Amino acid sequence: MTQDEMKKAAANKALEFIEENTIVGVGSGSTVNFFIDALASLKDSITGAVSSSEESTKRLKAHGIEVFDLNSVAVLDIYVDGADEITQDMAMIKGGGAALTREKIVAAVAKKFICIADNSKKVSVLGKFPLPIEVIPMARSYVARELVKLGGDPVYRQGVITDNGNVILDIYNLDIIDPKALETQINAIVGVVTNGLFALRGADILLLSSAKGVEVIQ
Ligand code: A5P
Repeated sequence: MTQDEMKKAAANKALEFIEENTIVGVGSGSTVNFFIDALASLKDSITGAVSSSEESTKRLKAHGIEVFDLNSVAVLDIYVDGADEITQDMAMIKGGGAALTREKIVAAVAKKFICIADNSKKVSVLGKFPLPIEVIPMARSYVARELVKLGGDPVYRQGVITDNGNVILDIYNLDIIDPKALETQINAIVGVVTNGLFALRGADILLLSSAKGVEVIQ
């Protein structure tokens, strides 16, 4: 089974959690793209979607799925998104696709976060994947210096501007033993918009696919 086939299997499994007449929170990335394509088969039974990136919005609309502004949505039952890394405790690193801020906002609103991933994303300790941080452009060097003090090696993601007009620093060599504490600590640095640790609000359900099938972990 290829990695794409595993991503697709996890994405298809997520359809089982989608109820009729609801608005679905939709994340970003290649695994979510498979989910959006699968969600199209339910487009007449759901109300629509809230999207976490311009790219996902475009794909949802191309399938004829209505995309709502988050501010107009009172209740969001479910959010489906991928991850760059995820632990047994459901803490994640996200933001490999630079959509972390909107993803974190939609995840915060949703009652249930369903993470869809292939088994290469499952780790015992977060941090092998460089931690993305969205930063206000003028604060880039300052934030980078602060991250060095925390033991990280920041690299400016050249040529990438987020949907919110900001830049991304990727922080290498962090050994993230306490993801909630580090998430809070990085949030406190002035100039940081969002960091890619999703631990304070982690996933509720992980649909983890491997060659053997899709495991439901909660
Ligand atoms: C987008 O910014 C990310 O948070 C993605 O959810 C994450 O990078 C997983 O992406 P893939 O599904 O493409 O691996």
